[in-house]
Amino acid sequence: MGAIEAEVVSLRAALADPRPETVLGQEVTTGQLEGVDVAVLRSGVGKVNAALGAVALRTVGADRIVFTGVAGGLAPEVGVGDLVVANDVVQHDVDVTALGRAPGELLGEPAVWRSDDRLRAACEHAAREVSGGAGVHTGRIASGDQFIASVAQRVRIVEQFGALAAEMEGAAMAQACARMGVPWAVVRSISDSADAGAVADFPAFLGMAAERGVALARELVRGG
Ligand code: ADE
Repeated sequence: MGAIEAEVVSLRAALADPRPETVLGQEVTTGQLEGVDVAVLRSGVGKVNAALGAVALRTVGADRIVFTGVAGGLAPEVGVGDLVVANDVVQHDVDVTALGRAPGELLGEPAVWRSDDRLRAACEHAAREVSGGAGVHTGRIASGDQFIASVAQRVRIVEQFGALAAEMEGAAMAQACARMGVPWAVVRSISDSADAGAVADFPAFLGMAAERGVALARELVRGG
């Protein structure tokens, strides 16, 4: 699963016997990769689309979901071109603190969603295989319906949540997967540093993200 066309186009093109369909308004293509049945879904940007995408993938029979795409780097050790595998995910734009909840905690939901141990380990292995020498980090990814493009936004998310990277879908997909009992993981390539340079850096990196996505998926299905 990816959010935008650049994040899924190469992966979709790599499928044998591709069958595109629209499920719950989401574009999903089923087929085989390395002989394994897979579905590639472009969710659209943001948390609502990501949740809907998870449900659409479940509807076509997905029993595990991996999100691949780009993210803004937040922590100083996370550079552009590095990969970040989510140990867990938070929703940095959720604020019910007035009712005594922790930052990121909705009523009746956890504040943090932890990725599936086996799928995360497989993603870490795959990330190292495709990194080409770039850094591979495992840690927290923060999601929200915001493109982070200032030091002030970046510092807030680091201080409140201790996240390594920011994107706009992972934790919403995780929330939906948790409700459905579907194991999930998130692997992101860092396209920008979530600061004033992010608007220019982000599109320049999308081509690499596309190639990374397909390489990661191949490694994952090869590993079973
Ligand atoms: N995806 C890639 N870069 C991002 C950023 N800076 N903020 C949110 N999502 C992103």
